[in-house]
Amino acid sequence: MGLRLSILTVFLVLLWTTGPHFYNGRNTGCLECHSAHHEGWGTCVDCHRGDPRTQRIQIAHHRLVPGEYACFTLPESPVVETGQWLIDISGCRRCHQTGQQGNGLASNLDGSLDKKMPEVLADAINKPAVFMPHFNFQETDVTRLVNAILASSAGYALKSTDFGQAIHFEEDKEDSDNVFSRNCGGCHRILTQSIGGIGKGDIGPNLSGIFSDFYFQTFKGRKSWNSTGLGQWLKNPRDIRTNAQMPPVHLKKDEFGHLLKILDSYVSS
Ligand code: HEC
Ligand code: HEC
Ligand code: HEC
Ligand code: HEC
Repeated sequence: MGLRLSILTVFLVLLWTTGPHFYNGRNTGCLECHSAHHEGWGTCVDCHRGDPRTQRIQIAHHRLVPGEYACFTLPESPVVETGQWLIDISGCRRCHQTGQQGNGLASNLDGSLDKKMPEVLADAINKPAVFMPHFNFQETDVTRLVNAILASSAGYALKSTDFGQAIHFEEDKEDSDNVFSRNCGGCHRILTQSIGGIGKGDIGPNLSGIFSDFYFQTFKGRKSWNSTGLGQWLKNPRDIRTNAQMPPVHLKKDEFGHLLKILDSYVSS
């Protein structure tokens, strides 16, 4: 009985895979409803995914990459280039790795193509998680960002070590018992490797990864931030930036030491 069933199954599979809908290679099902375009650059599924073996639209469109998010498949796409520029000027790499560069404080975006639907990525940018800044991008810029993320992600195989990091960012976590939360957290937030997301304020910038290469070069003379610079800033921000809004913060020496440890805890790749 079991043997007969498996012979029947093999027969049916053979019949199906040699059926007429397989004749024209991998695009056949799609071409029942669509006309071809961008030929020569690949097949429909190379750029849009989906399942070409069927004419049932729900199945054919399984994990479909819609047109607007498929621009990353085209060579030298201006959409991708603008997206990459937006990633640079927004400092996304303070927290994320993308294009194999960036801090490991939030998810590694280089794994996005396999793991996430483009719409989910767009949603995450439009409605950011608690410790991700709100950038208020326009819809076209979100599309550009997603295309840039997917472009970097294409062909990038996740290293197994990428799964090793523990990230915490519960909004209501009891986090007041540290020098950052007490002295800075009313106005700033930060993601740290050691104690997760701390701070509740959005008046000042999100300071995640401040001592890394991926933070903005906003110290005096367009320099990167370091511990000496931060010490000067806290003493009197207006010595560094004439119209600074932030009031001076006076910390004891050991408090400053503890603060540096918190600010410096990020994972760079
Ligand atoms: C039975 C007909 C049918 C088949 C088969 C089919 N599609 Fe579609 N497809 C449609 C229709 C209708 C739309 C427009 C409405 C929609 O988005 O569902 C569409 C829309 C699309 C879009 C645009 C979506 C967007 O929002 O930009 C893409 C891309 C696409 N299809 C790719 C494919 C690919 C690739 C295949 C094969 C793997 C395929 N389709 C198979 C009927 C089909
Ligand atoms: C090299 C990548 C590539 C290939 C191959 C490709 N597409 Fe597209 N597709 C895109 C891009 C990029 C867009 C967005 C509009 C544009 O730039 O042309 C798109 C847009 C679409 C759309 C949305 C409507 C539109 O024209 O804007 C549909 C539907 C679609 N493709 C279906 C298909 C089907 C079916 C095939 C296979 C016959 C296919 N595509 C092959 C990249 C590709
Ligand atoms: C201050 C840290 C921080 C910055 C800066 C930041 N993000 Fe995020 N981002 C997060 C956190 C936290 C999450 C939610 C948890 C996670 O995915 O790690 C997140 C999630 C995402 C997701 C969803 C990822 C997924 O797998 O579901 C995308 C996409 C994303 N961010 C894109 C961006 C882009 C694009 C930028 C720059 C414009 C950016 N982020 C800047 C912290 C940040
Ligand atoms: C009362 C609110 C407030 C407090 C408390 C506060 N900050 Fe700020 N901070 C700001 C604001 C607002 C800015 C924006 C820049 C400006 O003032 O021009 C800022 C800017 C900064 C910057 C410059 C970042 C950049 O990219 O320009 C650093 C660094 C900084 N704060 C660190 C800290 C640290 C560390 C603490 C705690 C020891 C702290 N701040 C406490 C409000 C605050």
